[in-house]
Amino acid sequence: MAQYPPIMKDKPVFLHGGDYNPDQWLNEKSTVWPRDMELAKKAGINTLSVGIFSWATLEPEEGRYTFEWLDEVMDMLAQNGIKAVLATPSGARPAWMAEKYPEVLRVTEDRRRNLFGERHNHCLTSPVYREKVRKMNTLLAERYKDHPALGMWHISNEYGGECHCPLCQQRFRQWLKERYGTIDKLNDDWWNTFWSHRYSSFDQIESPSSIGESGSHGLNLAWKRFTTQQFCDFYSWEIEPLRRITPDVPCTTNLMHTYPGINYFELGRLLDRCSWDNYPQWTNDMRDAKVAAHSAFCHDLMRGVCGGKPYMLMESSPSCVNWQAVNRLRQPGILMLQSLQAVAHGSDTVQYFQFRKGRGSFEKFHGAVVSHDESEQNRVYREVCAVGEALAGLTPALGAAPENRIAVVYDWENRWALEDARFGLNTGKGYEETVRTHHTAFLRAGYGVDVIDETCDLAPYRVVCGPMTYMLRPGFAQRVRAFVEAGGTYISTYCSGWVNEEDLCFMGGFPGPLREVCGLWDEETDALDETQRNRFTWNGRSYEAKDFCAVVHPEGAQVLAAYEERFYQGAPALTVNAFGKGRCYYIAARTGEDFLCDLYAHVAKEAGLSPLLPALPSGVLCTERVGANGRFLFVMNTVPEARTVTLPACTDVQTGLMRKGDCTLGAYGVMAVRLA
Ligand code: GLA
Ligand code: ZN
Repeated sequence: MAQYPPIMKDKPVFLHGGDYNPDQWLNEKSTVWPRDMELAKKAGINTLSVGIFSWATLEPEEGRYTFEWLDEVMDMLAQNGIKAVLATPSGARPAWMAEKYPEVLRVTEDRRRNLFGERHNHCLTSPVYREKVRKMNTLLAERYKDHPALGMWHISNEYGGECHCPLCQQRFRQWLKERYGTIDKLNDDWWNTFWSHRYSSFDQIESPSSIGESGSHGLNLAWKRFTTQQFCDFYSWEIEPLRRITPDVPCTTNLMHTYPGINYFELGRLLDRCSWDNYPQWTNDMRDAKVAAHSAFCHDLMRGVCGGKPYMLMESSPSCVNWQAVNRLRQPGILMLQSLQAVAHGSDTVQYFQFRKGRGSFEKFHGAVVSHDESEQNRVYREVCAVGEALAGLTPALGAAPENRIAVVYDWENRWALEDARFGLNTGKGYEETVRTHHTAFLRAGYGVDVIDETCDLAPYRVVCGPMTYMLRPGFAQRVRAFVEAGGTYISTYCSGWVNEEDLCFMGGFPGPLREVCGLWDEETDALDETQRNRFTWNGRSYEAKDFCAVVHPEGAQVLAAYEERFYQGAPALTVNAFGKGRCYYIAARTGEDFLCDLYAHVAKEAGLSPLLPALPSGVLCTERVGANGRFLFVMNTVPEARTVTLPACTDVQTGLMRKGDCTLGAYGVMAVRLA
């Protein structure tokens, strides 16, 4: 049982708040700011994120600082009992800086320097930008270090993209020198004899580009690893003065679930708490079961990148967004579901983008707690108030964390290599969707799931599933082996164990270093287009195989199902291999969710696990958080139809009423109970 301290030590409650831009209302601050405070408090809002894009208002001209408005905002927050998640403003810079120091502007992969504008587009290397950021962050920390409103640091905003400027090229070459040592080692690791691509000096290397090299997988992979390091380094640079001046104030930066450009397991290690921005595309119909399962995966992943600690839902829309193709309203009930789903997976906060809608520019019609009507009567505001109340009622669960015994592997480096590789389906390898389908299958069987990557410890788990682990990163195969030997159940699939960490193929037969534990040789892989299917039968039920069908030969593994069509009819589609005290399954083909649900219900039971709730009705998900105040079960109906679940003896956390037996949840209904 792990009980974590509150994120802000003097606010031992669920944090409820959002991005707040009082600097957009300086001309009307005497009326707008007090109204904001009134509306925030009525909605149970206890934290607001300020200063995220405020650089131009904090330093309107180089070296002329205007912190007075922020002083006033911080004082106002403190007077109203609201904590500030105070941002460093590096997510967007003032025009004067771009004009005077063009090096701060990012260069795109086709080697064009951006003009001033937009956001999230600064050079990651530029010494000028770094110096300006360091100065600004130092001033913020010194000014507010003892301010009672300061609760947390929000570093920049949604780090992302990449810069290909000459300064970044230099840094990339330096990084390559450190990683590979000699140019020959790099040439060999990247297989550069191919197409005569051997370099004779590190100085010849350029980042991948559509006008230069884009087909060198070693280069592409190295660039992505380097970009991750650039962000980790930039983050460390940003927090240095904050750590020094305000050592007790936690730092985070808001992540974007499976954003492909940064290996979040690396960046996550640097964060005190993970925080992320969730914008599910709810449809107000039965498809929401899928939308909710997708969000569930993202929550589990985000919890995983920071080591399983309670995390923060830093942004979510209280209503529609303004950037999806179809920006639907959320029908009543969805905001509560979306918010408590975060809590159910381990978030200790529910925060929104945005607190108040601006009058102008790009996000003026994005959902907000306070709309242009400034009314307390509108539906969205009233729903936010209800979330505030619900969060207050959940305080006993604060700091509790899931204790899952099942993990699914989602690995950024594997994804990069797999998606870059040319074979099978070049229309898309479907890695993310595949991992999500495996994750969903465990959820539907009633289990909580952790999402880990190939570098994580497997010891806490009874069942680990590694779909499409095309790249085996150093030590992973050995850890899988030790895990199975000690009694664990591992599930491997087609397209696993093909390449090492440099994207060089394993010789001697796939799945390479996993071959012995899987007890088979994976000889070749067929690709099927969307009209083609194969079939197999397991446990008396017939299932379809699609997209990828591997042809494998058992070397000790027992065959549980075989293909029924095509020239490899009779070859195994599903095997299990007894190894040490454990076992390893191999799913040779991509299947539908139906098969995985059936298989995983069986596998989990066989591994000695029991579901959180038996026989979950379709569309219902559940999770558990365990802490000093007990075991909290969250039951979520993710569809707009009522659903009945059967509960063990428990107490409703909100009402204190005892419950046992059948219990009906209305459309999108959520319940949190404490188990007896
Ligand atoms: C992102 C950003 C916010 C805002 C929202 C809109 O998450 O971090 O600044 O633009 O999107 O949905
Ligand atoms: Zn650059």
